[in-house]
Amino acid sequence: MTDKAMMRVLGGGRVDPPPVWIMRQAGRYLPEYWELRGRAKDFLDFCYTPALAVEAVMQPLRRFDLDAAILFSDILVIPDALGRKVWFVQGEGPRLEPLLDEAAWSFGDPEGVTGHLAPVYETVERLRATLPQKTTLIGFAGGPWTVATYMIQGRGGDKDRCRRAAYERPADVDALLAVVAEATARHLAAQVAAGADCLQIFESWSESLPEPLFERVILKPTAAVMARLRALGVTAPVIGFPRGAGALIGRYARETGVTALGVDIQTPAAFARKEAPAGMALQGNLDPQLLIAGGAALETGARQVLEAFGGGPHIFNLGHGITPQTPPENVAKLVEIIRRPGES
Ligand code: CP3
Repeated sequence: MTDKAMMRVLGGGRVDPPPVWIMRQAGRYLPEYWELRGRAKDFLDFCYTPALAVEAVMQPLRRFDLDAAILFSDILVIPDALGRKVWFVQGEGPRLEPLLDEAAWSFGDPEGVTGHLAPVYETVERLRATLPQKTTLIGFAGGPWTVATYMIQGRGGDKDRCRRAAYERPADVDALLAVVAEATARHLAAQVAAGADCLQIFESWSESLPEPLFERVILKPTAAVMARLRALGVTAPVIGFPRGAGALIGRYARETGVTALGVDIQTPAAFARKEAPAGMALQGNLDPQLLIAGGAALETGARQVLEAFGGGPHIFNLGHGITPQTPPENVAKLVEIIRRPGES
């Protein structure tokens, strides 16, 4: 049996207290991150420099007793590897050249992505050699719709134009989703080949989709990623995180082929438990704002999450990424609350 607590839970086991990691645990709330970031030319260069990326992964692990490390990279390396221009505007977020501005949509071949992303797999290899035996190494990618929306509209925010494009240019949007799904499967498989123990698919923009569109742009492309991954011989567990999917999380958990379900802030644990297949591991879902508030609110909130998810296999996490304003001491406090003996 594995000595990695998180892998035991992903296999359907219950571990008390539950394993814990924090979405976006490497990054801007840590002062030492900024020092490291200053050494790279730009954010993508940071992601493609294994020495810097490994260090970014290790920073939170030195401070906190976490069960998992997550590769330092970004979901937008896929559009970059497909030849679409990607850049990051400080304080605003990512920017891409929008496909919506183009009459004929063009992007590179999904077969080329793993060559372009070779430095990312080198980071995974180095991490595999560095991490303690008990630490689970998580590889990741964005969900096809989330990545495609950045490619279509060129930025985050309001997704009305993307939804409209799905109705107005269905052949273009479906072809894009198929390319992104194939590229994503290859990218995830390469991370496992390099040493990742498990994978997470961040479908951050699952909200506000009518069910027929959810079927078309979320369920079908994600099922394609999972089928392709399994056809490539990858057996590693996959956590699907359809943030904002609401009433449709059950369909996501049952129909895509993911192993475990990431639960967002507003979804009740009991609802997720009822909707997911019996025995499926659930991950989540503390409000990241509680990590800023700290004190008694954090203590109460963390206990409520432990209690709500405690009836089945659970990986403790936030319901969305940690924010840059979070005091690192509050993360230490959270881990201490979770690990306190006999109270979970
Ligand atoms: O510890 C980790 O989780 C680090 C690895 C990681 C990053 N991005 C690094 C990063 C992961 C797993 C991601 C996922 C990601 N990237 C998602 C899905 C998760 C989510 O939060 O919904 C999305 C939508 C993106 C796209 C993206 N990349 C955005 C919106 C931004 C702007 C900053 C933000 O957090 O809103 C980025 C840049 C980015 N990716 C940073 C980091 C550490 C900040 C870059 C910097 O300015 O230094």
